[in-house]
Amino acid sequence: MNKDINIRLETDKDYKIVEKLTFEAFETVDFPGQKYTIEHFFAYLLRKDASFVHELDFVAEDEEEIVGNIMYNTINIKVNNCMKNNKSIPENDVYSCEHISSEKNIKEVLSLALLSVLPKFHSMGIGGRLIENSLKKAKDLGYKAMLLPGGYPEYYTRFGFKPASFYGFKWLDGSELDAFMALELEEGYLGRAGGKWKLADFYNDLLDEEKFREYQIRFNEY
Ligand SMILES: CC(C)(COP(=O)(O)OP(=O)(O)OC[C@H]1O[C@@H](n2cnc3c(N)ncnc32)[C@H](O)[C@@H]1OP(=O)(O)O)[C@@H](O)C(=O)NCCC(=O)NCCS
Repeated sequence: MNKDINIRLETDKDYKIVEKLTFEAFETVDFPGQKYTIEHFFAYLLRKDASFVHELDFVAEDEEEIVGNIMYNTINIKVNNCMKNNKSIPENDVYSCEHISSEKNIKEVLSLALLSVLPKFHSMGIGGRLIENSLKKAKDLGYKAMLLPGGYPEYYTRFGFKPASFYGFKWLDGSELDAFMALELEEGYLGRAGGKWKLADFYNDLLDEEKFREYQIRFNEY
């Protein structure tokens, strides 16, 4: 069932409501190794980070109620260049690839950071609308690609995402993680040779239990 919803940019008046909805959405998800829900704290930290992309911070409204949200940040990736003198070097020839990599291979791409829909509004097309709307806007803003550090493969392939390993990108520990996905907004932008990337620095704060406890006390009073 597709619901008639309105999509607009988030404003600072929405912050607490969006953090509450993020909590409700993620409370229902069991991520391996995660003891408690932290994604509402993630939303809070993300908005304060320099990498946060305000122009892609959308909420979905049903009547006056905010029922969904999507957020992005930017990251720099250093793409391996596997072309030399117009000749392609085999993609698995890592030494050659990295050897000729240079500063001009550093590219700013998007990272899809959060997507949340209130549980009672699931499967009404709201998540899909938030993704499609933001992809269109991202293209208009000139972004050429995005990474998705933790996506559901069966869900995000609907929108054109592929495993990041398709483009040669590995997870932080060097593995090919299914949930690590990527999308080109301009065909060929990521290449196939992979490269270096890292999570934004605010991810460290996410795991700081003391900071989380302080935030959670404030959150409980929202
Ligand atoms: C994932 C989420 C954003 C999807 O939002 P939604 O508005 O329900 O999604 P849509 O209505 O666009 O799409 C619904 C379809 O996606 C499927 N889907 C939802 N979650 C899925 C998942 N984890 N894996 C595979 N498919 C999924 C549904 O089964 C449904 O399939 P159907 O169209 O065949 O019936 C929502 O379930 C949510 O907020 N989940 C909790 C937070 C979360 O996990 N966020 C994403 C982190 S990557």
